[in-house]
Amino acid sequence: QASPLYAQCQGCHQPNGAGIPGVFPPLAGHVPEILAAKGGREYLIQVLLYGLQGQITVKGTRYQGVMPAYAQLKDEDIAGLLNHISTQWGNRFPAGQQPFTAAEVRAQRAKTLTAAQVLEARNKLGLK
Ligand code: HEM
Repeated sequence: QASPLYAQCQGCHQPNGAGIPGVFPPLAGHVPEILAAKGGREYLIQVLLYGLQGQITVKGTRYQGVMPAYAQLKDEDIAGLLNHISTQWGNRFPAGQQPFTAAEVRAQRAKTLTAAQVLEARNKLGLK
């Protein structure tokens, strides 16, 4: 399903969410494993608010790029984007999880993190 908000992501993560191996990580098939990790919801909000920079591994493939920050978006739009990428391409919320709310985004916005701190938060998720 088309989303005007996701239009600003698809140049990198691709319309089908598959990304480009080794360059832009996939969101399809990957966002649910982040959601399922303890702290994963907060981390996803932080990626959108503060960006991400440094080496990450997704499904055995390494990425070392720059994910831009989208702090200029409204809280409800960030929640909407996260709900989009959590439910497209066969992605689903883990059982018991509700959609993202603007209030959840607001809580992460109060933290004022750097992209490097977001990477530290990612490293604590214990993603495989
Ligand atoms: C990483 C979503 C726009 C490039 C990520 C991650 C998410 C995400 C959730 C974290 C993946 C993980 O931790 O495994 C989005 C959304 C976007 C967007 C929803 C639109 C608002 C973009 C754009 C670019 C980009 C436009 C390219 C200019 C990247 C890169 C990474 C990344 C390179 C990995 C960063 C690293 O290697 O440290 N994105 N993204 N993203 N994104 Fe985006």
